[in-house]
Amino acid sequence: MPDLEHIKHAPASLGLHELIASRWSPRSYSDKPVSSEDLTKIFTAAAWAASSSNEQPWRFLVGRKGDDTYAKIFDALVPANQEWAKTAPVLVLSVAKKTYTKNDAANYHALHDTGAATATLTLQATALGLHTHGMGGFDHDKARANFGIPEGFEVGACWALGYLGSPDALTGWQHDAELAVRSRKPLESFVFSTWDQPATL
Ligand SMILES: Cc1cc2nc3c(=O)[nH]c(=O)nc-3n(C[C@H](O)[C@H](O)[C@H](O)COP(=O)(O)O)c2cc1C
Repeated sequence: MPDLEHIKHAPASLGLHELIASRWSPRSYSDKPVSSEDLTKIFTAAAWAASSSNEQPWRFLVGRKGDDTYAKIFDALVPANQEWAKTAPVLVLSVAKKTYTKNDAANYHALHDTGAATATLTLQATALGLHTHGMGGFDHDKARANFGIPEGFEVGACWALGYLGSPDALTGWQHDAELAVRSRKPLESFVFSTWDQPATL
């Protein structure tokens, strides 16, 4: 089996923290279950993310393979995601509360903060030897209907969580993508000092 953790690692020359450099998004998971202790740590990490007014607007629906929550998340995924996500032992759906609890005012940062909490949990998962893979490819209306998500909440993203599986479980472009080196845009394309002037750091 190719050394995917090596292939997928961000270049060592960048000097990033190991947690950041080693996080990547597989499409093949082993059938090893995730312990309750690890799941608790992962969502505790999410709780400790920063959020506007410390609102913590996120809610995570968490399903283990075989339970109803998993089936409801899986049902909402587009077929191309179902194809590989079926191997994940845990599926998660993130949801954001669109108003502040203290005054019912609109919280325009709700999805932003839910994303930050999710990024935090992916790093905790990495620290525990687990992998995660976000999915925007799902039917939002179906996810909303499957869980009876009320009006004042915005659906975020679905996530697969588990231990790395073999790339041989994948076919076609998904297999090729599993073996491909990761790449990123250069800093000059997204770090600016004025709207159209890349920043000098
Ligand atoms: C919000 C979000 C939605 C995504 N949607 C999908 C998806 O529907 N299907 C998929 O296979 N990957 C999806 N991805 C995974 C991205 O393609 C992946 O994170 C990106 O290519 C960078 O790769 P890396 O996570 O390994 O660094 C999504 C990731 C995020 C964060």
